[in-house]
Amino acid sequence: LGWYTGAEDGFLYVDQLRVEDIRHQVPESPFYLYSKNRIMHNYQAYKKALEGLSSLPCYAVKANNNLIIMKELAAAGAGAVLVSGNELKMAMAAGFDPSRTIFNGNGKLPWELALAAEKGVLINIDSEFDLENIAAAARKTGKKAKVLLRINPDVDPQVHPYVSTGLAGSKFGIRNSHIKWFLDAIRAEPLLELVGVHSHLGSTITKVNIFRDAAIIMCEFVKMIRAEGFNLQYLNIGGGLGIDYSHQGQVLPTPTDLIDTVRDIVKDLGLTLVIEPGRSMVATSCGLVNTVTGVKTNGNKHFIVIDGSMATLIRPSLYGAYQHIELTKPSNAPTETFDVVGPICESGDYLGKDRVLPTPEAGDGLVVHDAGAYCMSMASNYNLKMRPAEYIVEDGKLRKIRNEETLEHHLAVFDGLL
Ligand code: LLP
Repeated sequence: LGWYTGAEDGFLYVDQLRVEDIRHQVPESPFYLYSKNRIMHNYQAYKKALEGLSSLPCYAVKANNNLIIMKELAAAGAGAVLVSGNELKMAMAAGFDPSRTIFNGNGKLPWELALAAEKGVLINIDSEFDLENIAAAARKTGKKAKVLLRINPDVDPQVHPYVSTGLAGSKFGIRNSHIKWFLDAIRAEPLLELVGVHSHLGSTITKVNIFRDAAIIMCEFVKMIRAEGFNLQYLNIGGGLGIDYSHQGQVLPTPTDLIDTVRDIVKDLGLTLVIEPGRSMVATSCGLVNTVTGVKTNGNKHFIVIDGSMATLIRPSLYGAYQHIELTKPSNAPTETFDVVGPICESGDYLGKDRVLPTPEAGDGLVVHDAGAYCMSMASNYNLKMRPAEYIVEDGKLRKIRNEETLEHHLAVFDGLL
């Protein structure tokens, strides 16, 4: 299931297919390659973990917004968590049920809120001005908007500061000391209906007791808000479960471990548990398949230069993130310690540092693993690199799920201006 090294031949596989064969079939390079089985398996792991609880599992679309992948998850019954009006439009196109989607963010724009209110999406309140904007959007559509308060439980998720979001000084969520102000403001708006509370601690979290610490704090807020006369239904604990990027057989908590830390709290309060996984749904399903352009040495450093880059996959450059790298076929060539770099004109353009790999030849395939989350969705056109094609292995067959961007797509933004 998913990506693995063939026990007998040492080639890399996705489900039943050899990546080396796929590479020779596919005209583009680099390209993203997914296993549908793996995505569905990850989703089912959450479904199973939630058994016996009233729940709403919402896929965090920001992790991967391929329309075909979104359609599969919508068809499997997932809800969605969205952070822009365009994500909302894509989610509607993918067939997500609006009443099972949440619109979240610290800078939601009036047109985005109007669309969310019109569709009947659940909306998170992030600040005083956000509440005013949501109320204005509800008045404009004349429909009642169901809202959740995004609270900062101030629990440290112990992750990279860029992906830590639930601390008191974070840019997300309301000022908890002003909670009474928010409750009074909601009471004064007949078109706002407070239905729940939300928290999101951060991403790449590997210790699930942190979710319990936050849920205990959130539980106190729920009791307090209920005592003020509000009928809360939802406790949203956000997303954030990490995966084993190291490929060292690290044993990480599973969705079941995560849900079991909060199960009794949710049951005791008679709430519906909302979760918002992104990375743990899609990351492990995908590898970025690159072609080696050449190998070079400068000073005492050895480099493998590939056609993929920080424009295709930015996590190593941006967060110093480790993503495992392998060649697509076995090799007896002498190993060396390499930096794996792209062609972008920046020294920060690397996919991996100090990787011990067999010395490849130009034209060989090289995979950057665990590229299903925050890789394609964060790709850019820097240096006028075009965002790559995407393929998925589905029922043992290769299917193209996104065309490579071309310069023509890019030039369209100058239509009528030249
Ligand atoms: N809910 C909210 C409110 C979020 O802000 C996020 C992610 C999620 C859910 C999904 O979290 P996940 O289960 O994927 O950890 N670009 C970074 C990750 C940014 C995460 C942003 N928020 C990276 O590549 O590591």
